[in-house]
Amino acid sequence: RSAKRIGIFGFGCVGQGLHDVLQDNPQLQVVRICVRDREKLRTLPSHTFTYSPQELLQDESIDLFAELISDPGEALLIVRQVLQAGKTIVSANKKMVSENLPELVELQQAYGGTLLYEAAVCGSIPILRTLEAYYGNEQLQEVSGILNGSSNYILTKLNSEGLAYEEALRQAQALGFAEADPTLDVGGFDALHKISLIAAHAFGVVPHAADVLCQGIQHISKRDVTLAQALGARIRLVASAKLNAHNRLAVQVLPTLVFPDSELYYVEAEFNGVQLKAKYAGDQFLKGRGAGSHPTGSAVWADVSAALAGYKYSYGKLQQAEVQLEEDTELRLY
Ligand code: HSE
Repeated sequence: RSAKRIGIFGFGCVGQGLHDVLQDNPQLQVVRICVRDREKLRTLPSHTFTYSPQELLQDESIDLFAELISDPGEALLIVRQVLQAGKTIVSANKKMVSENLPELVELQQAYGGTLLYEAAVCGSIPILRTLEAYYGNEQLQEVSGILNGSSNYILTKLNSEGLAYEEALRQAQALGFAEADPTLDVGGFDALHKISLIAAHAFGVVPHAADVLCQGIQHISKRDVTLAQALGARIRLVASAKLNAHNRLAVQVLPTLVFPDSELYYVEAEFNGVQLKAKYAGDQFLKGRGAGSHPTGSAVWADVSAALAGYKYSYGKLQQAEVQLEEDTELRLY
């Protein structure tokens, strides 16, 4: 059998994006797509779908799974079951992966299965694999940037088109950038989940949400944006993980004024941008579409291909655990 067989959970924005991408990649065959809502009108024939996660999970003909649903609790149950069977799954669920990473790493080590989640962090930007493969032995000093496309889209529209906040948010939802619950985006939590995953791969630290200073953009008004403009700046939601001289890591998510001398100033709409500072490599900057059906679908496909080729995260830095989380982040700021 030449084509590999994939079982997909979820047919929302990302699931549909993956399905479109797979039309150009006949070496992968979609066996079934598991969805919850029987009433919803769908673009594919009904025999493509199943409503039973167990039916899909127990199908022995499937080579690997893609978990692309938004509910983190259900997503965890699916991923756990696949990993406990020693099988392979890719996920785009940043909340689920970031909040359960130690368990998910243990399950992979105990049963030999594989979990990849590049699509969970910065959409089309290959940041996790860059951290693992390129910076695996480097001493990173800082990873920071714009990690939430919806917030950046809203901030951009407030700035360039003078849109009202609510209208800009509505557009971000209509374009498929926002989460099912957009509080995750505008409250800074989505960026927090992503910087946590970045911190795990870059520094070997898995921060708990409660240890991270996190503010979103809900209280940014047109007036703030205009004031920033008058100062020659733009407001961006910046998530950062910075190592200090004592090997302690400060992680935070905050609306920040950025000026034209920063790459982040030029990251507009749903784009994301990640700055890396390393001891020997120096500074690097990655920019790409951070949200949306096709960019995220493409990232899932990249994970699927990598998993089929036998790629696994090394979690090298997590094993070393030399870095500790800075506990007085809040005090440092004031
Ligand atoms: N809601 C997320 C964002 C989607 O706006 O960045 C991509 O993770």
